[in-house]
Amino acid sequence: MNDLTFFCFVFLSSVDSQVGCDDEYADIDWDTVGFGLTPTDYMYTMRCSEQNYEFTEGQLNRYGNIELSPAAGVLNYGQGLFEGMKALRREDGRLVLFRPDQNALRMKEGAARMCMPSPTITQFIEAVRQTAIANKRWIPPPGKGSLYMRPMLLGTGPILGLGPAPEYMFLVYASPVRNYFKEGSAPLNLYIEQEFDRASRGGTGGIKTISNYGPALRPLVKAKSKGFSDVLYLDSVHGKYIEEVSSCNIFMVKENIISTPPVKGTILPGVTRKSIIEIARDLGYRVEERPIAVEELLEADEVFGTGTAVVVAPVGSITHLGERVEYRTDDNSVSKRLLSAYVAIQNGFMEDKKGWVVEIN
Ligand SMILES: Cc1ncc(COP(=O)(O)O)c(C=O)c1O
Repeated sequence: MNDLTFFCFVFLSSVDSQVGCDDEYADIDWDTVGFGLTPTDYMYTMRCSEQNYEFTEGQLNRYGNIELSPAAGVLNYGQGLFEGMKALRREDGRLVLFRPDQNALRMKEGAARMCMPSPTITQFIEAVRQTAIANKRWIPPPGKGSLYMRPMLLGTGPILGLGPAPEYMFLVYASPVRNYFKEGSAPLNLYIEQEFDRASRGGTGGIKTISNYGPALRPLVKAKSKGFSDVLYLDSVHGKYIEEVSSCNIFMVKENIISTPPVKGTILPGVTRKSIIEIARDLGYRVEERPIAVEELLEADEVFGTGTAVVVAPVGSITHLGERVEYRTDDNSVSKRLLSAYVAIQNGFMEDKKGWVVEIN
């Protein structure tokens, strides 16, 4: 064996051992990951039989397209739900999910509204866990983002007249992500939408149905074309009270009191919203869930959004009827403090007293 052959032998042996090694990472530049779709290795699917409307025998398959009847309920009548959650890699190598039971519960509640059978809480969490583990090499290194998990519940059976589909599929796919907004962690500039409503009384604003999001595209595209980060919606009855942003819940701070609109059917009950309310109260803040008129929001000291994708996002400005109002976003802001506590619990730097973090490896 000459020197070169010996070098190649040693080099290839070490590559081989890395391929089988637990800490193997996908070959991507983790610093350039945004919130676009990066296809990963596996997805999970589980079908529901027509006979008893129960989900059984879920399995992992290679990630890829799914085949649907052109008459599938989801394609024709929008009978579908989705969820969004993150798998994180901690410094100590542990892989964790954050409150997956809450997403499972929200899907169950949404399914009841949409006349769909749903997986049990245990089935949901197990499916997400298996999908995260199967795509482990796509869970970014600590501090470089997370693996966004997208569980979906779809009416896949064919149906021509309006009615619930005869068959359903639950699936979970995943994509590594980092910042949701192109602004990164910089403050958002929101636009208060006057023309379009997101949700109405008795509608589906309080569940995560796919049919809530298509109609939100036009206001979003319009706002982005004017340089805004996102749209803030008002209630559809009075056009007076703030509801939520197209991708997150909204909070305001005035004289250290934190307020957020109540979730009463038109606003998505965010898992992050609920967690931030608890964290804030634990930190000694007064938190009120109550209707907030747009005029009051414009007088706030601070405004921030919360959501799985956006985490806790400071709002730098809100534009209402052509008038732009600016808010505090410095390092001593309430939102920065809440963000730090939230991230510290998820990453194990602060004790998880409530059992929110679920270890999956
Ligand atoms: C409309 C809307 N509101 C709020 C949220 C925040 O919910 P969560 O904190 O559960 O991610 C989301 C994101 O899922 C959303 O799409």
